[in-house]
Amino acid sequence: MSKLALAVHGGAWEIPAEAAAACRAGVGRALARGWEVLERGGAAVEACEQAVLVLEDDPMFDAGVGSHLNRDGCVQLDAILMDGRTLKAGAVAAVERLRNPIHVARLVLERSEHMLLVGPGAEQFAVEMGVSLCNPSELVIAREVERWYQEKHKASAGPPLRARSAGTVGAVALDAAGNLAAATSTGGTGCKYPGRVGDSCLIGCGCYADNRAGAVSATGYGEHIMKVVLAKTVSDLVGAGAEPQAAAEKALATLGERTEGMGGLIVIDKSGRVGAAFTTPNMACAFRTSDSSEAVVRL
Ligand code: GLY
Repeated sequence: MSKLALAVHGGAWEIPAEAAAACRAGVGRALARGWEVLERGGAAVEACEQAVLVLEDDPMFDAGVGSHLNRDGCVQLDAILMDGRTLKAGAVAAVERLRNPIHVARLVLERSEHMLLVGPGAEQFAVEMGVSLCNPSELVIAREVERWYQEKHKASAGPPLRARSAGTVGAVALDAAGNLAAATSTGGTGCKYPGRVGDSCLIGCGCYADNRAGAVSATGYGEHIMKVVLAKTVSDLVGAGAEPQAAAEKALATLGERTEGMGGLIVIDKSGRVGAAFTTPNMACAFRTSDSSEAVVRL
């Protein structure tokens, strides 16, 4: 039986002091949900899905309900779940009527020949799989409407609006059978162009899992992360023998050097070693391994 390991993050960004306790509590709850799955012998993909479901349902994070609004004031969500055993991923992008896109990502992973479905096609697939569509307004909360108004105002009155990513979520896991999985879910950047898809749901960019190396979930500004294929870069470093923590730090240094971008990463290698690093002011994350009876929550 393999060592168990699970890590979750709630996004790398400048977390305001008044949001810190809720973000800490949120990643702690997500870790607990995923850990229950691993402890009862469940699969890494199930643990990642369950952990991310908790974070999508928590309005503190930019995923599921509470996500940033795009330029037109709508929520458009991206999510991915990847199985390190098969290298198959399931992903959805630019969906507006899925309350939990990570669940549909899992359905794509396990019940579709494809890896990535977008927009209305992804929603049609969800319906065919028995998932009810939500009203898009169910994903919108007052805090994000206020943020959207402020950003729109800034865009017209000052320098061009620089889209931000705050609170993308993710999970990585190693299960008792020695399988790795990774998941990432996001509402993307505030005031993004309608139809814009970021790094999160792109295999190798915001997420990667390979049983021969490691499982990685990334957070940060997608247009930077995509340039350096961040998650695959970390997985390759780990596969070549780097410690997960060193690999995460090296890849984020490359992100900074090549794109001037900042971000964060969680990674678990095939031996169950955990790394968590960020170059933004903060990142909410939590992790646990079967070497310890205690979860670690950081922010
Ligand atoms: N990392 C989230 C995004 O840029 O969409």
